[in-house]
Amino acid sequence: MDKVIIVMPAWNEAENIREMIKVLINDEFPKIEANMELLVVDNHSTDGTKEIVEEASKKYTSSTGHKNIYLIEQDKPGLGWAYVRGFQYAVSKLNANAVMEMDADFQHPPRFVKPMVDAYLKGADYCIGSRYIKGGSVPKEWAESRKAVSFFGNLFIRLVLLNFKIHDLTTGFRLTRVKGVLDKIDLEKLHDLDRFSYKVDLLYQSLKNSKKTVEVPLEFASRTKEKSKFNWKEMISTFKLAIILGIKDKQRFIKFGTVGFIGYLVNAIFLRILTVLGSPSIIAWSVPVELSIVSNFILNNIWTFKEKKIEGTKAVISKFLQFNGTSLGALVIQTVAGIIGDVLFGVGYRQILLPFIIVFLVLPYNYFMYNAIIWKTWKFPAIAWIQKLLG
Ligand code: GDD
Ligand code: MN
Repeated sequence: MDKVIIVMPAWNEAENIREMIKVLINDEFPKIEANMELLVVDNHSTDGTKEIVEEASKKYTSSTGHKNIYLIEQDKPGLGWAYVRGFQYAVSKLNANAVMEMDADFQHPPRFVKPMVDAYLKGADYCIGSRYIKGGSVPKEWAESRKAVSFFGNLFIRLVLLNFKIHDLTTGFRLTRVKGVLDKIDLEKLHDLDRFSYKVDLLYQSLKNSKKTVEVPLEFASRTKEKSKFNWKEMISTFKLAIILGIKDKQRFIKFGTVGFIGYLVNAIFLRILTVLGSPSIIAWSVPVELSIVSNFILNNIWTFKEKKIEGTKAVISKFLQFNGTSLGALVIQTVAGIIGDVLFGVGYRQILLPFIIVFLVLPYNYFMYNAIIWKTWKFPAIAWIQKLLG
C-alpha cells in the first residue's frame, strides 16, 4: 500500500494540535485507502506543542500497535525549512511515497485530506488544494478587502508566471508524489526557505516535474485558535519571488533570441568571407548556414539551456544531428511560407514578408523544438512517447 505522510509545521499550536491529531487518526485516516502517517515539524514552540505531540505519538502507537505520528524539530528558522526538513525525514527515514503540506490550525479542514489522497491514488503526481475552483472557497467571514487581497494576489502570480491552468498558486494544502516530482527537486536550494514565499518556488519546481497535476477543491476555513504567523512582509516576498521566477522563464527566451542573432552574424560574416575568397556559389551559400547552426547549437547548449547542458562526445554528436534535423524544419517552414507569400502578394513584398515569417513562424518553431525536443525543458507526455517509440 502507498504511504502518504502529512508534513505539518506547527509553531505554538498547542490549542490546535491535540485536536488535529485526534481527528486525523480517529476519523480521517481510517477512511483512506493508503498508509497514512503524520509528521509534525516543530519550531521550538514554547507553549507545549512538542510535548503534546510526543504524548499523542505514544498514546496512538500503543492503541494501534503501529507508529503513525512523528515529531521533528527544525534546525533553521522559517516555514520553508520546516517543510524541507519534514520532506527529507519523510522520504529518507519513513519511506514516504507521497507527502502532503497541511497546516495545524484547522484552516485546512481534515475532511479534505481524503479527496487529495484519492486523486493521488488515481494517478496524480501533484494535487493542489484549491480555493479558487468550483467547490473551493475562502472563509465567508473574511472581510471583502481580505478576500480581494487573496484573490488578486493569486491572479497577479498567475500573470507573472504565465500560468493560467492552475487557479490557486499560494495554497498551503498540497500533495506531492515523491518519485519523479519531489525527488527531482533540490529542496535545500529553493528560494526564500526562511519565509512563506518558498511555497511559490516549490510549486514552480513541482509543476515542472509533475506529469499529471490536478486541483482538488478546498474550503479554506478561518483560524479560530492561536495566531497566524503570516504577515504583509511574507506577502510582499511572495510577489517578489513570483516576479523573479517569471523573469527567469523569459530570460531563456531573451538568451535564445541573442543566440539566434549571433547565428545570423556568423552567417553573414562567412558569406562575406567566402565571397571575397571567390568560393563557388554552392559553398558560399551553404557553409555559412551550417556554421550558424553550429554556433546556435553550442551557444544554446552552454548558455540558453545551461541547466540542461548536453555533455559527452556521443550525446553531443547525436543531439547535434537532431538539431540539424529541426533546423531543416525551419527551412521547410520558411520556404513554404515564402512561396505562399509570393503567390498572395507577389515577389515585390518579400523583404516585408521575411521578418514576419521569422518572428511569427521560425522563431516560435525553433523555440518550441529546443524546449520540447532538444533540451527537454518542457515536458510533453506525447512527445516522450513518440521518442520512445522511435528509440
Ligand atoms: N515549524 C514551523 N515553523 N511552523 C510554522 C512556521 C515556522 O516557521 N510558520 C508557520 N508555521 C505553521 C503554523 O503553526 C501553521 O500550522 C502553518 O504553519 C500555517 O501558518 P499560519 O500562521 O496559520 O499561516 P496562514 O494561515 O496565515 O497562511 C496560510 O495561508 C497562506 C496563503 O494562502 C498557509 O496555508 C500558507 O501556507 C499559505 O501560503
Ligand atoms: Mn493558518
